[in-house]
Parts: sequence; C-alpha cells; structure tokens
Amino acid sequence: MDKLTTPTSIKVYYRLPKGSQPPSLYEPYRSTTKRAPLRPLVVLPHTLSEVTGPIYGHEKVGKNDNDLTVQNAGEPLGERIIVSGRVLDTNGRPVSNALIEIWQANSAGRYRHAKDQHPAPLDPNFSGAGRTLTDQNGAYRFVTIKPGAYPWFNHYNAWRPAHIHFSLFGNAFITRLVTQMYFPGDPLFAYDPIFQSLPDEKARERMISKFDLETTQPQWAKGFKFDIVLRGPEATPFET
Ligand SMILES: [Fe+2]
Repeated sequence: MDKLTTPTSIKVYYRLPKGSQPPSLYEPYRSTTKRAPLRPLVVLPHTLSEVTGPIYGHEKVGKNDNDLTVQNAGEPLGERIIVSGRVLDTNGRPVSNALIEIWQANSAGRYRHAKDQHPAPLDPNFSGAGRTLTDQNGAYRFVTIKPGAYPWFNHYNAWRPAHIHFSLFGNAFITRLVTQMYFPGDPLFAYDPIFQSLPDEKARERMISKFDLETTQPQWAKGFKFDIVLRGPEATPFET
C-alpha cells in the first residue's frame, strides 16, 4: 500500500487493495472488452492536487431533490422506500458535505431514457434522479421507489438485479466514487456479471444495502441502510 507523505495538515490517501475493486476487463460483462485499457496502467504518484483540486455540483441541490416521490404532480407507483446511511473516509470518519447523486429505473424496471425501450411502462410521476449533501455526521437520506429488475443485452436472458446508481463527490477530487446499491437477497446476483465481476465476496457485500427496521416508518415506507466508504481497505467498490 503506497502512502503519500504530506504536510501534517493534509490528509493521507491510500491506494485501494488488490481484489477489492472489479477489474477493468471482465469478459462476461461484454462492454468491458470494448473499454478496458489495452496497455498496462501507469501509476501516477499522488500529489497535493488530489486534496486541493476543485469539486463540483454542491451548489445546485434543491429542497425536494432527495425525495424522488414528490418531484412530479402525483405520487409514483411502486414500493416506497427510505435509503439512508453515512459516507465515511478511509479511517471511518464521517465525510460531511459530500455530494451524492442517484439515478434508477422505476418500479417496473424502466429508465426514463431514450435508450431504454423495453416493454415496461414509464411512470409520469417518476423521473428517477435525486441528489443530496451529507450532513456534519456524514449522513444522507433519500425517499424513493424500489426499482424493478430490468433486462439488458449482455447475454441471452440477461437481467440486472434491482439497483440504484450512486455517484459521490467527497471533499476532494480523489474521493470520487460511482457505484451501485443492491437490495438484500436478490435472486439475480448469481447471474449478474457486473455484480460477479468483483472477485472479493466481502467487497460484493459492501454493495448490498441492509433492511433496517429503525428507519422503516410504520404505515409508510421500508428503510434500507447503505453506508459508503470512499477509500481504503473497506472502500465501497467502484463499478466497472
Ligand atoms: Fe442501471
């Protein structure tokens, strides 16, 4: 594990341990064969720019952006859920003021996107995108609809497990993370090459949210916990 020596006021960043992240080339996940680098990667030394570089988008968060069920005229169809958790750094400390953006399919498994033309209904009351900032404890919370599984063209009869896409900007450019959050017990895990591309089973588990009775609200919505670790040995895997 490389360690950057810095002045004491600057946080230290660690490189990710081997096996904790999916490889850039994983043949069962077909599109990786088109985009994986053909030559060995060049490891660049960490410098001050990783901790002092610009961060983006924090100023654009609106009042209802973290509630995907109130962004249109009516309520979306499907199972209302609360997704919450904390964003943590390498050393388990909360990351405040991190920008979290999510996007997802609706309850029928359909994205509001020109490229998604599979025969499932669009929901006029569900756009499928949200954003929020973590508070001083690194905590975040979204209200949304549980996404449906959807078919894709990777291989014959390919279906993605239900998931929510997450993009994070921490407090430095290097703490960028794009990942997917899954739901516990999904029968499609065993057949999904994106999920299976991660060699480390423990790392795979870090992408699965946990049902949480404490955040579940009676007569209203089930709660799921999803903590995100931005870097280090316990880092949430970056999707390929
Ligand atoms: Fe997706």
